[in-house]
Amino acid sequence: MSASQQEILSKPETLTARVLPFPLRRLVLTGFMGAGKSTVGRLLASRLDWEFLDLDNHLESRTGATIPELFSLHGEAHFRRLESTALASALGRSRAVIALGGGTPEDLTNRLLIEQTPSTLAVFLDAPFSTLFDRCMLQEISRPVLADPVAAALRFERRRPLYARLSRLTVDTSMLTAEDAVEAILAGLNQTPYSRS
Ligand code: S3P
Repeated sequence: MSASQQEILSKPETLTARVLPFPLRRLVLTGFMGAGKSTVGRLLASRLDWEFLDLDNHLESRTGATIPELFSLHGEAHFRRLESTALASALGRSRAVIALGGGTPEDLTNRLLIEQTPSTLAVFLDAPFSTLFDRCMLQEISRPVLADPVAAALRFERRRPLYARLSRLTVDTSMLTAEDAVEAILAGLNQTPYSRS
């Protein structure tokens, strides 16, 4: 192993500094269900040698209940309140890639929290609704919000501009593997002006 490889392994900050163009402590992945937030986020975190945090899993471990249980026992409004609290907790982590839930940015307070957390940048993983819906149907994840596909399509239309406005970078994942999406994010970040440190 070369001296520079040893230096990178012994100092994770050095690795991050080489991959990211500016100082950051958090990358937040947003987008609709099926966008690949968790799969891409896990790969991206490992590439940066950062922690990966999936907001849905974070919420489930905080509450001891699954998301379908929370929806069916207490309703969506209750789930959204828990989601906001879990988000605030997740944003306290440093050197972390955080995969939001598809509905997290619908709430103004959540968007403000993400925008106002220093050294934090959001990335929108985009794809057409039909692609996302098909991907979700192939997954074994129970998503209460997809029970009504027409309502889900309306949610997608409502959320898409919110994802885009929240994010400094949009990556169209419709034709990308998760590995390609990570490359596209890193390349995009290297072309993104950034002033907050
Ligand atoms: C939701 C998306 C899910 C989960 C919950 C509600 C939504 O997360 O938070 O089922 O409203 O879009 P994923 O986007 O990770 O599937």
